[in-house]
This record gives sequence, C-alpha cells and structure tokens, in this order.
Amino acid sequence: MRVIKTVSGMQRLQRHGRVGFVPTMGYLHEGHLSLVRMARKQSDFVVVSVFVNPTQFGPHEDLARYPTDFARDRRLLAAEGADVIFRPGAEEMYPVSYATYVEVERLTSNLCGRFRPGHFRGVTTVVVKLLNIVKPDFVFFGQKDAQQAFVIQRMVRDLAFDTKVVVGPTVREPDGLAMSSRNSYLARVERTQAPVLYQSLQLARRLVQAGEQDPVRIKRRMRQFIKSKPGVRVQYIEIVDTEELKPVRRISGRLLIAVAAFLGRTRLIDNIILQKRG
Ligand code: PAJ
Repeated sequence: MRVIKTVSGMQRLQRHGRVGFVPTMGYLHEGHLSLVRMARKQSDFVVVSVFVNPTQFGPHEDLARYPTDFARDRRLLAAEGADVIFRPGAEEMYPVSYATYVEVERLTSNLCGRFRPGHFRGVTTVVVKLLNIVKPDFVFFGQKDAQQAFVIQRMVRDLAFDTKVVVGPTVREPDGLAMSSRNSYLARVERTQAPVLYQSLQLARRLVQAGEQDPVRIKRRMRQFIKSKPGVRVQYIEIVDTEELKPVRRISGRLLIAVAAFLGRTRLIDNIILQKRG
C-alpha cells in the first residue's frame, strides 16, 4: 500500500482495472471500513483519501479539533487491502490562489444545509476535485450522511462524471448509535443517551407501519421521545422525499426521515429511508 501526498503524484499513478474510491476525513471506524470492503469487492484497485476538508467546516465548527490518527488509519487500510491512500495537505488541495467552488442547488437548502451554511458547497467542491484527481470508476459513500450522498449523486449526474456512485448502509454500534468519528467527543453520560436518535427513527418506522400518515404527528412523537432524555437538544427532525429532499405532507412513496441533535457541544445526525406503498 502506498501513501501519496501530491495531486500530481496521484494523477501520474499507474492503476489497473476498475478503480474504486472511498473519500474520508480519516479517524476511521467500521462505517468507513465497510465502504472500503465494498470497494475491494467491486473494483481491482482501491484508493482511499484521508483529508480533513477545511472548506466544509463553518467558522464555529470543529475543524481545529477534528480527531486524527493517521498511523492507525494507515494500519486499518493496509489490513483491508487498500492499494493507495491519498493524503494531501490543505495547501496541496487549496493553494493560496484557489478560487473555484461547486454548488448543488435546492437539495442543499434543507436538513443539514439549513443549519450549516456553506457546508455542502465545501463537500461538493472537494469531491469534484478528488474525482478529477483519482478518476475512479466507482465512488463509495455512506447512508449515514444521507443528504451528502443524495447531493453527490445529483452532482455526478448533473455534471456527467463517468463514475458510478455507490451508497453503503449505515454501520451502527451494538446499541444502535450510528458510528461516527465525532462519537469520540461524547462524554460518558452523553454516550449513554446517544442511541436516542436511532430509537426515535425506529419509533417513526413503527408509527408508519401502524398506518400513521401524518408527518407532523410522527415528528411530534419523535421530538417528545427525544425530549425524555435530558441534555439532548434536537436541531431538526424532517421527513422528506428522496428526490428533492423537500418535506412531504403525507406519508407515501420513498421517504427519508432525518434527525440532528446536540449532546452537549457534539452534533450527531442519523436517518432511515422508508418505502411506503400506496
Ligand atoms: P467522513 O465523515 O470521514 O465519512 C467518509 C464516508 O464514510 C462518508 O461517505 C460517510 O457517509 C461514511 N460513513 C461515516 N460513518 C458511517 C457509518 N456509520 N456507516 C456507513 N458509512 C459511514 O463524509 C465525509 O467524511 C466528508 O464529507 C467527505 C465525503 C470525505 C468529503 O470531505
């Protein structure tokens, strides 16, 4: 396994067969590694990027304290059989002269986009650049960040990238908490409360299965449920369609139910996708 730090080094690299690519910000966990395994199965040459992308963090967000452990990431990726780690520095990706940004409209205005202005602009910009550098046949994203996956799928289609986007399922801790590099921020008590996000999504699923058709009532029940844990502050609960990510007025078709909440200073997100016939 090679570690490449420059854009030109990555672009010059000899690859063979179908190239699979997993973009990450490092501090890897089983969620990331599940995507690397999917890439390993579906491709002949696996590239993983480890780059904490500054342009997707807001001025008051956690860029400065985002966790890193490259020695560990490197070991884990070697064990998964990755061929190359692309690990550029911030100056390599964004030299002083840098001036170009890519923006996906509409899909980015709701959900996380509403509370993290500029976040998806940073994500789409870095992903476009990474796709141009790695030129993969397949690129892998996790459902954990559902809005990100939808936004990237739309961008790849709109801009006619010759890359297939594959979305892998959310990997969870045994108690249901979606794995995240940010879970390492949680204090012990917060960690015991964190599964409430997934539990609220399961409550929503049960309500839908029992025939509830009103998204407002489902959201209210979810909010009440989360409120039963002191110290968990809901940022949003949304039920949206999976095309434009717009709130639905009735439960039908393919739906994304998404939640974001603060536990202390730590912001966690989770979601499920439901298919309701009729
Ligand atoms: P990061 O948060 O490191 O996540 C990298 C990839 O792993 C993303 O596609 C994310 O959805 C996926 N992932 C994270 N937790 C997961 C889980 N529990 N189960 C399944 N997949 C999971 O997302 C980013 O980095 C960045 O925005 C990036 C796309 C790299 C652009 O900078």
